[in-house]
Amino acid sequence: MEREVRRVGVVGLGTMGAGIAQVCVEAGFETVGREVEAELAERAGARIEHFVGRKVEKGQLDAQARDQALGRLSLTTDLGDLAGCDLVVEAAFEDLAVKHDLFRELEAAVAGDAILATNTSALSVTQIASVLERPERVVGMHFFNPAPLMKLVEIVRAERTAEDVFDTAYDFAALLGKEPIRCNDTPGFVVNRILIPLLNDCVRVLDEAGVSPEDLDKAMRHGAGWPMGPATLVDLVGIDIHVHASEALYDKLREPRMAPPPRLVRMAQAGKLGEKSGEGFYLHNRD
Ligand code: CAA
Repeated sequence: MEREVRRVGVVGLGTMGAGIAQVCVEAGFETVGREVEAELAERAGARIEHFVGRKVEKGQLDAQARDQALGRLSLTTDLGDLAGCDLVVEAAFEDLAVKHDLFRELEAAVAGDAILATNTSALSVTQIASVLERPERVVGMHFFNPAPLMKLVEIVRAERTAEDVFDTAYDFAALLGKEPIRCNDTPGFVVNRILIPLLNDCVRVLDEAGVSPEDLDKAMRHGAGWPMGPATLVDLVGIDIHVHASEALYDKLREPRMAPPPRLVRMAQAGKLGEKSGEGFYLHNRD
């Protein structure tokens, strides 16, 4: 690795952040996870404990390895606790103003040469970095949902990303057991540039063809070999996240297929956000 990463920070412990923190501790990195409220941090900790624990129950991990992995995780609400981190992955809310405030605070909290990575899927990494004194330390590390299971990490080179920062992020993703790819700061990077309009087409087909989400999912699983159907996938990603990412892509590329289908916009407005709210295309058990 270009530079040694010993201690990692993860900021924002929602679905993605908690998954990323899990991957880091499982790969042997001391990890500090930060949430805005203690209760949210505890919830993320419980989620990580649950999924690492399942591996023991299923005979994929021994109890000692589980305890060691969980022992590497510390949770905080204080950004100052990330001071000793060599690399921080930001996985907070997808809002430029929120990220700008966070990155300014992060820059003040961490060492001068610490790497600041963003897991953004819809915003420009260059724009996120633009408020920093040292934007060359910022790189995109875009994980996929669910982060512990999906192998790909898109390593995104922003306009000012330093070469050693980029290489370190790439090597770090490989050390996490992931399959990194090198890409540029273009709308949707690689996967979302393709997947978002494709999922939008799938949702439009629901209305055009008058089929049910169940049959659409069955069609794409058994007729196109998808591991999960599109309605299940959008529920997993989050209807709000998908709508936001679609809007961001449409904003930049102006292709009609990028625009979120009205059905999804209505669902997001009604709070039907998929798995996380208990209802999307399907009803989900939240226990
Ligand atoms: N976090 C951590 N661990 C999890 C998890 C999660 N969210 N979900 C499941 N697991 C663990 C569980 O312990 C589970 O075992 P149990 O159910 O026995 O507890 C174990 O992983 C295996 O889970 P599954 O049996 O569900 O695994 P699977 O073999 O069926 O594969 C999958 C699941 C990998 C998600 C597969 O269905 C798949 O590849 N789906 C497509 C997902 C995809 O396309 N994601 C990309 C979304 S787009 C995106 O993320 C980009 C963006 O910017 C929005």
